[in-house]
Amino acid sequence: MRTTYFLFFFFITGFLFAAEPSPTFHRDVEPILQRKCQSCHRPGEAAPFALVSYDQARPWAKAIRNSVIQRKMPPWHADPHVGKFVNDRSLSEAESKALIAWVDGGAPRGDAQDAPKPAVWPQGWTIGQPDAVFEMPGYDVPATGIIGYQWVKLPTGFTEDKWVQAVECRPADSARPMVHHIAAVWRRPDSPSMKGLAQGTFAAKGPGAGELGMSDGLLADYVPGMPGLIFPAGKAMLLPAGADILLQIHYTPTGKAVKDRSKVGLIFAKEPPAEAVLNLAVVNGRIRIPPGDPHHRVDAAVTFNKPVKLLALNPHMHLRGKSFTVRATLPDNTTQRLLNVPRYDFNWQTTYETGEVALPEGTRLEASAWFDNSPNNPWNPDPKAEVIFGDQTTDEMMVVFTHIAVPHSFDRRKLLRRNAPATSSSYDGPSKPTR
Ligand code: HEC
Repeated sequence: MRTTYFLFFFFITGFLFAAEPSPTFHRDVEPILQRKCQSCHRPGEAAPFALVSYDQARPWAKAIRNSVIQRKMPPWHADPHVGKFVNDRSLSEAESKALIAWVDGGAPRGDAQDAPKPAVWPQGWTIGQPDAVFEMPGYDVPATGIIGYQWVKLPTGFTEDKWVQAVECRPADSARPMVHHIAAVWRRPDSPSMKGLAQGTFAAKGPGAGELGMSDGLLADYVPGMPGLIFPAGKAMLLPAGADILLQIHYTPTGKAVKDRSKVGLIFAKEPPAEAVLNLAVVNGRIRIPPGDPHHRVDAAVTFNKPVKLLALNPHMHLRGKSFTVRATLPDNTTQRLLNVPRYDFNWQTTYETGEVALPEGTRLEASAWFDNSPNNPWNPDPKAEVIFGDQTTDEMMVVFTHIAVPHSFDRRKLLRRNAPATSSSYDGPSKPTR
């Protein structure tokens, strides 16, 4: 009786092992690393170590297991149950399981015959050969220290309006590991915020009036691991004649001094597009976060006067940012949740590409943000401060940058309903004078 029982047991476990052998690097893990990790974890990219060969990955096995379990890697902060994103880089359930099982099984190498072909990464521009390139003068990134945002003004000299089909910001290859982010905005030459700005690089508090992307357009941004921006066929973004491009660059020194020459590449639409892509910032500039408040809510909303298509969402807060949600309330009063970022991380300024979400005329696009100004927030520079809106990292912001497609002929000044309820902050305490 007992013997049969044991035989039966051996039969079952043997069968299970035969059906699901422990994952190996070459067969199971390497394809996942190629798909989901090597955009950053390869030589010369933003991550501090490569995950290309077995010998590179093996020492990190335990750390990989932890980062997958804690959902720290790949960096992707959208709640998987809300919205769908064409650039979603998170791991599927099966991929996470395979990585964890590989580590638990002793992180075996497996048979090199099972390995996928090495991934081929674009050298240079990911958008293709640009029609125009603007390069900044060299900037010496020091080996150590904390560097304030650098601003670079790049005049385009365009004498006619241009329709941008694709755009990419690229740090110099040698400086890639030190470039934390680049935001490229365009400004009309008569924009008040451009007054008195020298050409070239300067360290500054920022262009002053008109925070990034709010007065004129945000053109593109660069964060490690994200390719350039290519708008769908028939959709392009207007860059008016005479516009200046302004780069905001955040350098994070890595122990090695380098010279950066970041550049912006543009590809123009061959013909005027049927639809214009607008960069619309849904913002609440009247933030006042009370000292010590662990869960302070701020809302912002706009109402569309016309049917539009939503293409992308990029929530933006600073060190006290905690969570962020975006939803659309349709004219029939139903609500569609578009994005939920339950644990916002200011280190990762992610653009969530929504595909094309049609929003009928009268739709209210609503965003809610929560801030943690308590001492429990490890990033909080000063829990005793009342925090207001501003572009310093010690100030706060409550913005969701969006890409919206509208018919080409549409007058963008009439895009939003004027009588829509104003954005509001939920706090009415004492305020500091605005600088
Ligand atoms: C978008 C870029 C990017 C992608 C994609 C990415 N990583 Fe990372 N990874 C980084 C950066 C940058 C760091 C350095 C630490 C940090 O900034 O969080 C890092 C750190 C790590 C660490 C060290 C964590 C620690 O606790 O020290 C591990 C392990 C790791 N990544 C594994 C992975 C794996 C596995 C994948 C794919 C499943 C992946 N990463 C995808 C950028 C990326």
